[in-house]
Amino acid sequence: MQHVAQLNPRHEQATTAVEVRGLGHVYAGRDGAVPALSNIDLTVPAGRFVVIVGPSGCGKTSLLMMLAGLRTATSGTILCEGRPIATPDPSRVGVVFQEASLFPWLTAVENVEFPLVLKQAPRDERRARAEAMLNLVGLAGFGGRYPHELSGGMKQRVSIARGLVQDPPVLLMDEPFAALDEQTRMTMGHELLRIWEQTSKTVVFITHSLTEAVYLADEVIVMSARPGRILDRVPIDLPRPRTYQMMATDVFGALRERIWHQIRDVQ
Ligand SMILES: Nc1ncnc2c1ncn2[C@@H]1O[C@H](COP(=O)(O)OP(=O)(O)O)[C@@H](O)[C@H]1O
Ligand SMILES: [Mg+2]
Repeated sequence: MQHVAQLNPRHEQATTAVEVRGLGHVYAGRDGAVPALSNIDLTVPAGRFVVIVGPSGCGKTSLLMMLAGLRTATSGTILCEGRPIATPDPSRVGVVFQEASLFPWLTAVENVEFPLVLKQAPRDERRARAEAMLNLVGLAGFGGRYPHELSGGMKQRVSIARGLVQDPPVLLMDEPFAALDEQTRMTMGHELLRIWEQTSKTVVFITHSLTEAVYLADEVIVMSARPGRILDRVPIDLPRPRTYQMMATDVFGALRERIWHQIRDVQ
């Protein structure tokens, strides 16, 4: 763990990046109220890589939308670095969704710099920053390509670069690699860990894949079926950097099993 502490100085600090207290949410559905989240308490220390898993429809995306300030919870509070999150603020919280959702008429570098255009940052400055982010995600030299000229994995790299362009301390990711083939998905997971170690971000990552969850996480949060509650928090004490070989170990299997048992029971 020494290795991680060196790469991620935030691991050494006890500062809290995200604090969720008593969060609940009820949707007003067509056939009446739909309770989606119930009594969520979650503390994410700065620099931590937290993965959320849970059955389909348990409220994971709803929770992430609230963490991003894109939706308002019915009850409870969310603090990011001690301050409430009420509206989207890409300089505090970056978001990456399952679909890369790039503008097809903009090049890769223009997509990445788009949030800075909205902020009216000077052209040279924003272009340099966007190029640096493309470099970080392994897309140096691809800035002039349009989305249709990029593979699925490359589009998600652009999306990650865009999420990081304002250097937010927190990056939220909702099943970002779910649409990719398995090999690309594994590569992207590995790449994401490299980016995380290089940038010391706090990451909250949602996935359906328990293997991906254990491979990436410092801690896996297991949610119940709707209304989503937190059933378990599983510390993942595998050393870093993570390697593909670790997936074949008994420790990895036991962690995956512990999570699977709880999800299976609530399906
Ligand atoms: N805008 C909405 N209006 C009504 N119900 C919704 C809305 N968004 C999500 N839901 C419901 O809330 C529950 C949780 O959805 P979601 O957060 O997308 O779950 P997950 O991401 O875990 O699959 C689901 O039952 C879903 O149908
Ligand atoms: Mg979802």
